Amino acid sequence: MRENPLVLHVLGARPNFVKAAPVVRALGELGVRQGIIHTGQHYDALMSDVFFADLGLPEPVANLGVGSGSHAKQTAALLVGLEEVVEEQAPDLVVVYGDVNSTLAAILVCAKLGVPTAHVEAGLRSFDRGMPEEVNRVVTDALADLLFATSPEALAFLANEGVPASKVHLVGNPMIDSLFSALPSLDPAPVVARLGLPERYAVATLHRPANVDTPEAARELVDAVLEVSRQVPVVVPIHPRGKARLAEAGLVDDGTIRVIDPLGYVDFLSLVRGAALVVTDSGGVQEETTMLGVPCLTVRPNTERPITITHGTNRLVTPALLPAAAEKALADGAATPAGELPVLWDGKAGPRIATVIASWLKGDNLAPASQSKRPE
Ligand code: UD1
Ligand code: UDP
Repeated sequence: MRENPLVLHVLGARPNFVKAAPVVRALGELGVRQGIIHTGQHYDALMSDVFFADLGLPEPVANLGVGSGSHAKQTAALLVGLEEVVEEQAPDLVVVYGDVNSTLAAILVCAKLGVPTAHVEAGLRSFDRGMPEEVNRVVTDALADLLFATSPEALAFLANEGVPASKVHLVGNPMIDSLFSALPSLDPAPVVARLGLPERYAVATLHRPANVDTPEAARELVDAVLEVSRQVPVVVPIHPRGKARLAEAGLVDDGTIRVIDPLGYVDFLSLVRGAALVVTDSGGVQEETTMLGVPCLTVRPNTERPITITHGTNRLVTPALLPAAAEKALADGAATPAGELPVLWDGKAGPRIATVIASWLKGDNLAPASQSKRPE
């Protein structure tokens, strides 16, 4: 490895920023030279800039401005933009996060250029290839050189796909590190007052293509959310993807449903912290509600994060079952996690990842991390 090696983080979408912040901070503390490449997959100030500010992320060294498009068009633009910047920057390691198109494109580009890669949040599987994210997960894990897993079930899934255990490190969940860091600032009162909400309210966040991309799915979902709003006021910080379709299906701000712009990280989690109930199809929000002990109903047929059900406050529901499930969750009151909180979700995943990366950069022959044994 050359002297003073360079690590680049490729980030593109809202959840990437949340996962990367603790890793960037921890690598910085170890004195590793690093930079952020922002692909521009998310570009609205409320989907991007606000996260850099709230999470204390440094300015990107480049923003590719890729923007939106079909999967093919967006991925193609990502590939072209990333190839150029990776060649120009000549990193020693590229770190990718989660399962978005920017993640997939970065891993493909680096594999073809022979640049080593690390994947943070490896081994999550919904086993639903109808989800674009699942395709991205499988390809990313097949190509990554270092794989950082957030929860133990990932180890068996990766082993089944032929990923050598020596590449895999169970490190915990950096999204939870960000939550821990933000915790002292998470006060529901100001945001509740600003939005004019009563003390008891629910938060809904919905953006999965299967829920919002067709008028039929959007209508079924909106009908269910409207029924929940007859039990408790619902505030919906709306992801731009579903905005038009959900509005056409009847999701309009009417006093009991509050449809608002996406919230910044601290405001959003403050609101979640004070909520009686969260309705979501987000990946990250399933994890955050588990840690905050807020009941979470996930409107999806499956989850790549089953640990939030076995060790958390999450439950899967269909739109048809959502109103009854909401009624029960509201009646039961504050949720207690189903089991012990997930192992290593302790706010120290970033430092663990940074330690492995720093040793790898030094050329240490890494033994698999102690927790990364394959299950029998
Ligand atoms: C992407 C990820 C998804 C992740 C989500 C997090 C993929 C395939 N999907 O979905 O896994 O859960 O990010 O939020 O990578 N748009 C804006 N402004 C923006 C960004 C997007 O208006 O700043 C609108 C555009 O109309 C765009 C649509 O949202 O076409 C979808 O954006 P895109 O990045 O393609 O996918 P997401 O649905 O955001
Ligand atoms: N989030 C936010 N504001 C919002 C909605 C979500 O800050 O209005 C945060 C949320 O707390 C989590 C991350 O965005 O940290 C999750 O992103 P998203 O749901 O877009 O993606 P997913 O996790 O589904 O991939």
